[in-house]
Amino acid sequence: MSDNQKIFRVGLCVSGGIAAYKAIEVLRGLQKAGCEVQVCMTRHATEFIQPLTFRALTDKYVLVDDYAPDNPDPIAHINFSQNIDLLLVVPATANVIAKFANGIADDFLTSTYLASTAPVLIAPAMNTTMWFQPATQRNIAQLKNDGVHFVEPVSGRLACETVGTGKLEDVENIVSKVLSLKSQVSTGNNLPETLDLKPETLDLLGEKILITTGGTREAIDPVRFISNHSSGKMGFAIAEAAAKRGAEVTVVVGAVSVDPPENVKIINAVSAQKMHGSVMQNLSDATIYIGAAAVADYRPKNVSDNKIKKNDESMTIELERTTDILSEVSKNRHNGLLVVGFAAETNDVIDYARGKMERKNLDMIVANDVTRKGAGFGSDENQATIITRENAVELPLISKMELANKILDEIISLRNK
Ligand code: PMT
Repeated sequence: MSDNQKIFRVGLCVSGGIAAYKAIEVLRGLQKAGCEVQVCMTRHATEFIQPLTFRALTDKYVLVDDYAPDNPDPIAHINFSQNIDLLLVVPATANVIAKFANGIADDFLTSTYLASTAPVLIAPAMNTTMWFQPATQRNIAQLKNDGVHFVEPVSGRLACETVGTGKLEDVENIVSKVLSLKSQVSTGNNLPETLDLKPETLDLLGEKILITTGGTREAIDPVRFISNHSSGKMGFAIAEAAAKRGAEVTVVVGAVSVDPPENVKIINAVSAQKMHGSVMQNLSDATIYIGAAAVADYRPKNVSDNKIKKNDESMTIELERTTDILSEVSKNRHNGLLVVGFAAETNDVIDYARGKMERKNLDMIVANDVTRKGAGFGSDENQATIITRENAVELPLISKMELANKILDEIISLRNK
């Protein structure tokens, strides 16, 4: 059996919060995806859910205490930690996060963390005030720096009846994050070179990034418009990745079909004209401009005040050019502003993209072949070539989040030149 065919072994660690019951669904999701799961729990987690549940579902002894008389393994935390390909903590309480960050190993779960060389993925869940406590945020920053991965909690109604950040991320998203790490790890506990486990660094601290995303809607009459298939995913992925890397991010958002990320400023501007206005208003503050939006090149010359009635067999709409926002940004660029464009092409992708880079005087253009299956408009993945004046990096089909980080890496190397 090759490394890639080996069963992926997940050590699922459950700590004591109300979301502990969701660890059962995570376990089932992982099992359905073909992973082998062994469970350990903190003593407090057993107040919320019985080890027997996990034992029945995994057919394995559930570890809570090294010293428990019925524990069949005298050095269980070492054996558990050495025989997994990923240590997954669902849910992680503020207490467990604090212990991990400070190397405290006073029970089975925390000793396992210290003894493990496997990648670690933590899905926290807690009350909003506990989440935003400087101590918790300090501990999380420390763990990220140590190379630990997080599935951040989301905003919602919490068990304490408050509404805010601290809710465990959806089970499907936790499972899919595990599977995306799995695809980077060749099983067997050895970290391959391709594993992207580098801690999230704050290498964009001080940068103010203005991003456009989504399609635009150009009105024909009060009920109809011309638009395109852009979902906003690509621009939002760049926004999310940049904010995580320390940038201050403003996104001018057209017509989108997904929610924006947290921690970024959102300005809604659904037509090309509104988008142009919002970009120009916010440009002087920016240090980097990224035009990921699919802006209409033409709009109806006359917009009818009333719904147009169908009278004739055919109808002609006269179109006029919209302002090219990206070119305007370039023309008005201030000192130090990096200008990045996208090119959505269906043929001669690289040549057309280079032409746009020249004409619009860009520092970088991301050329995507929108005819490729699973890439471009609406998909979660994209296939692109990042072109600068000095080189072109052709990337395989990867997630939009991975592409976002590659684009930001290239921007940083441009900045350092
Ligand atoms: O939103 P998703 O569903 O995730 O899809 C992502 C995407 C395919 C939309 C994205 O990756 C992408 O390619 N965006 C640019 C699409 C586009 O309009 O390309 P273009 O070749 O027509 O335009 C070139 C560049 O000029 C783009 O940076 C565009 O934002 C900009 N432009 C175009 C026209 C205009 N009037 N003003 C502009 O600023």
